[in-house]
Amino acid sequence: MSVLKVAKLGNPVLRQVAAEVDLKGLVKPKGELQKFIDDMIETMHKEGGVGLAAPQVNRSIKIVVLEYDNNERYPEESSIPLTVLVNPVLSDFSGEKVLGWESCLSLIDFRGLVPRFTSLTLTAYDRQGKKIEKRVEGFEAVVLQHEIDHLEGKVFLDRMEDFSKLSYQEEFEEFWVKKDPAPESRES
Ligand code: NI
Repeated sequence: MSVLKVAKLGNPVLRQVAAEVDLKGLVKPKGELQKFIDDMIETMHKEGGVGLAAPQVNRSIKIVVLEYDNNERYPEESSIPLTVLVNPVLSDFSGEKVLGWESCLSLIDFRGLVPRFTSLTLTAYDRQGKKIEKRVEGFEAVVLQHEIDHLEGKVFLDRMEDFSKLSYQEEFEEFWVKKDPAPESRES
């Protein structure tokens, strides 16, 4: 496995609509796509992200990985098991949205308050090509919206409605982390 280079804002790959993955490419256990998925997971771990989308590692295809271990630093967020999603689609969004702080490995220094739907239905395939369909809510729903936006060429800035609290990481910690009732979230 190897750690991949993360594309930063300004790299056109982040603004492209990613291509659908041909599921037949998943079936070879030691195939190129399986190695790429392993590399995405290793990169997410190395960079400390909660999720990573393939365009963020310079490959414009519809794959995202997520994982979050609940810990004392973010006690209010629930854990997300290691998840690989191929060709994910979100639908049946909740009527309401919640504001939460997000950051991104491709905009590493910034934090912004982003409105996201509180629940949605995920349809996707796992790394073996098996279909997944489930209702998702809470932190996992937020992370999914963030990551799947990357597959549509969007970053969290595009979803913000109020830029007045957009912060560098250091100022976020100084001025907002303990003062804002919105749940803090860590993203990629
Ligand atoms: Ni991101």
